[in-house]
Amino acid sequence: MCGIVGYIGHREAYPIVLKGLQRLEYRGYDSAGIALYDGKDLNLCKTKGKVADLKTLLEKEISTSGKLGIGHTRWATHGVPNDVNSHPHYSNSGNLVIIHNGIIENYDSLKKELIKRGYTFQSDTDTEVLVNLIEDVMTNENIKLGKAVQLALNQVIGAYAIAVFDKNKPNEIVVAKLGSPLAIGIGEGEFFIASDASPFIEFTDNAIYLEDHEMAIVRLDKDIKIRKIEDDSLVNPYIQKLQLNLEQIEKGGYPHFMLKEIYEQPLAIKDTYRGRLLADEGIIKMAGIEDNMKRFLNADRIIIVACGTSWHAGLVAEYIFEDLARIPVEVEYASEFRYRNPVITEKDIVISISQSGETADTLAAIKLAKSKGAFVFGVCNVVGSSIARETDAGAYTHAGPEIGVASTKAFTTQITVLTLIALRLARAKGTMSSSDYRRHLHELELIPEKVTEALKADKHIQAISELYKDSRNMLYLGRGYNFPVALEGALKLKEISYIHAEGYPAAEMKHGPIALIDENMPVIIIATKKGHYDKVVSNIQEIKARKGKIIGIVTEGDVNVRELADHVIEVPETLENLSPLLTTIPLQLLSYHIAVLLGKNVDQPRNLAKSVTVE
Ligand code: AGP
Ligand code: GLU
Repeated sequence: MCGIVGYIGHREAYPIVLKGLQRLEYRGYDSAGIALYDGKDLNLCKTKGKVADLKTLLEKEISTSGKLGIGHTRWATHGVPNDVNSHPHYSNSGNLVIIHNGIIENYDSLKKELIKRGYTFQSDTDTEVLVNLIEDVMTNENIKLGKAVQLALNQVIGAYAIAVFDKNKPNEIVVAKLGSPLAIGIGEGEFFIASDASPFIEFTDNAIYLEDHEMAIVRLDKDIKIRKIEDDSLVNPYIQKLQLNLEQIEKGGYPHFMLKEIYEQPLAIKDTYRGRLLADEGIIKMAGIEDNMKRFLNADRIIIVACGTSWHAGLVAEYIFEDLARIPVEVEYASEFRYRNPVITEKDIVISISQSGETADTLAAIKLAKSKGAFVFGVCNVVGSSIARETDAGAYTHAGPEIGVASTKAFTTQITVLTLIALRLARAKGTMSSSDYRRHLHELELIPEKVTEALKADKHIQAISELYKDSRNMLYLGRGYNFPVALEGALKLKEISYIHAEGYPAAEMKHGPIALIDENMPVIIIATKKGHYDKVVSNIQEIKARKGKIIGIVTEGDVNVRELADHVIEVPETLENLSPLLTTIPLQLLSYHIAVLLGKNVDQPRNLAKSVTVE
């Protein structure tokens, strides 16, 4: 996730590209840069920090003239946020310049090959490999930029929305798309390129949204041509009339960032396992684990430290690690762990989980663990964040920026990373059969489409929300892998609707909380096919006998719970230990719709901050 902007036409490019970047900053920024061609020179300025920092520096350092320009706000995936890793990136010759949104999975092997051919690299990014691959193809085949991009991209595995131009042919910009969004604005004698329409909405409402595996050469003297990357065949361009206003565009047409991020989860999960999960080969590749495998295999235990939703992801991980890899796991609230003088030794591995990478309690817990000799592995969503820099090793979630205060895609991508780690360790320890291991890999690969399926219950969930929006309390129940999901569902409701809610292990009801049950107590109970199903059905009967209102989260096709519950919400069937990735979806939507119906500020709930950088 990041922002790309480009312009070619009769106006000065700089003001358009700069304002476009400002409008795309919501997509995530840790650094930014702009390249302009002024008719003679290619002028480029880039810096760590925000677009405002870039503006200050650029207007001091380079000429802002030129009618051709590209700009980028970065959300780093490879290479920490700094000036050198910022985009745009030059090719070795200095003739080509590129901006890129996405992840080049096979950048490492491509880079090694290019180094053998004499290429040098200034940055640690995958993007700089791509621009030099294009240059290498262009030089060796003696072809133009457009054809070189097409051939080069056929060697690339990963996700991209790119814009690249050649300073020796400054009348065109070449763009291509796979996995990351790219819109082309079509004006009178001018073209705009951007991650979404927000940078050009006031100049034109005619736009082409490239489809995956498509590319285009945007030239002033020719009509735009869309081609298929794999075979260069022509595609009929579909020019859309944009109806969205600026605010709607930033939210991708969704009314709130939270809903947008709930719907981004299929792609976010896919981006998170991209390049790491090779199900057909039966391989999981995670450098941070491979490089420390011995340490993990010899560890006495794993201590997970986190806060809030990330702590719930840690609880899911406890079930997965112990169940599959047979490694003892403790899950600690970072805020408690840091002050209770815990017993930690060099034989312990601490895993920290944090979306923002800036949570003060988690950072303090990490420092405490390191001071006592533990090895700390970080699961984080922000490259180069304080926690990412403090941990000894780690694995990033590739969820893209999470703007809504209520964490959604961070939770499911954290579980994705933790599941990959647990599976990899189970394989290394031989605690899983090869067939069971491969079954898990293939099922994990299907999760994005199953999340898409689960999202189809949205309207049904909205109708249920109407019936329960005025509740004073709600109870969330789950067993096994879905007990942490019950906690997470309760947190979601609390933090955006301000309704008191509590998550509980379903079997614990009889030890007290069942006294709460009456006709005014809605109970959301996770009762999927796998994982103590019969026992959960008994719990449902206990609640029904006391007139509790029951909303069951069930496996599609379930009949038993349907007969007992007041409402059921279906999720696709999956393996028991992957079910949290699906059962959390309806709970996210339920809390979202109730909060909207109550008129709450869904994206910025009262009293809360997106990142709790204070104790
Ligand atoms: C969850 O919806 C909240 N936003 C909050 O509990 C959050 O998960 C917690 O503050 C931890 O944040 P982190 O993942 O950025 O460390
Ligand atoms: N993978 C590229 C990088 O880390 C692009 C990241 C982005 O989409 O901003 O620089």
